Amino acid sequence: MLTRNLINIEAGRDPGDSTPGEPDPSSSPFGRDLMAALGSRPRSISPKYFYDAAGSQLFDRICELPEYYPTRTELRILANNAPEIAAQIGSRAEIVEFGAGSLRKVRLLLDAMKEPARYVPIDISAEHLSQSAAALRRDYPGVDVQPVAADYTGPLRLPAPAARAGRRVGFFPGSTIGNFTPQEALRFLLGAAESLRGGALLLGADLVKDPAVLHAAYNDAQGITAAFNLNLLERANRELGARFVLGQFAHSAFYNAPERRIEMHLVSLVRQQIALAGQSHEFAEGETLHTENSYKFTVEGLRALAVAAGFRPGPVWIDADRLFSVHWLHAPG
Ligand code: AVJ
Repeated sequence: MLTRNLINIEAGRDPGDSTPGEPDPSSSPFGRDLMAALGSRPRSISPKYFYDAAGSQLFDRICELPEYYPTRTELRILANNAPEIAAQIGSRAEIVEFGAGSLRKVRLLLDAMKEPARYVPIDISAEHLSQSAAALRRDYPGVDVQPVAADYTGPLRLPAPAARAGRRVGFFPGSTIGNFTPQEALRFLLGAAESLRGGALLLGADLVKDPAVLHAAYNDAQGITAAFNLNLLERANRELGARFVLGQFAHSAFYNAPERRIEMHLVSLVRQQIALAGQSHEFAEGETLHTENSYKFTVEGLRALAVAAGFRPGPVWIDADRLFSVHWLHAPG
């Protein structure tokens, strides 16, 4: 916080100047990826950088928005089908969650399961992990909570299964899989099928639907999604000493129908120069930084993708309005 104030009062110096104590963008993954993004065309950066503390709070508010149907729909699907899902999971099972995400969702599983044995949340953010682990331990003293600090898009080393253990079941809710390109999604599923051999994956996937419904979900009336998108620039100002002027960028989210994805961009409202790590980058008026893809799926398309990754698709649970889907995918032994 102190660093941020120091940087702001120094506006106007040469981008090439380096001040002692100024953050060095090339020393963090976010800084390196933002430098790479600014230097390439079209400009794009991974949506994983949305989730600093402020961004995570904004995302929690998105999940409560009337227009943002995925979270509440998936929760309803899990709650309404909990006995059937728990029957698929079986007794003494272990839940491996990709991303130490919404404890509300995993609680619905643990509450319905017979003798849940272990919960393994995997997350790159150690802080997020220890918070979710502590909260779960308190409420489920019988469950062995074993967080793994790792990037779940890479190869995983999971704890050895416990003696007399039931199935190992992966849990990847929220349609986070939609952030991957189809190629990345296939790669993720191949890795998951490998880590979960003999078990299964419980996967949440948002469905294709009327583009107007999709558009509203990513262009909410209160502007929370816009704030979430723009927070990426605020984060760069806070952490990297960048000096993005927030009023000179606008949130843009639209459904790219042929690609079946929502795209989010930050659009430059004027021609401007952005300085980062001694380099100046010009944004033309209307030029964008692409910040997120959120792919939408058909039930058949998702099952075909799972088959290509070596899974054997089982039951699918869908809400009555066909907004969202939850898939049981067997991982052969
Ligand atoms: C967390 C990736 C599933 O794509 O809907 C919400 C993120 N972005 N509003 C999504 C998000 C804008 C969300 N995922």
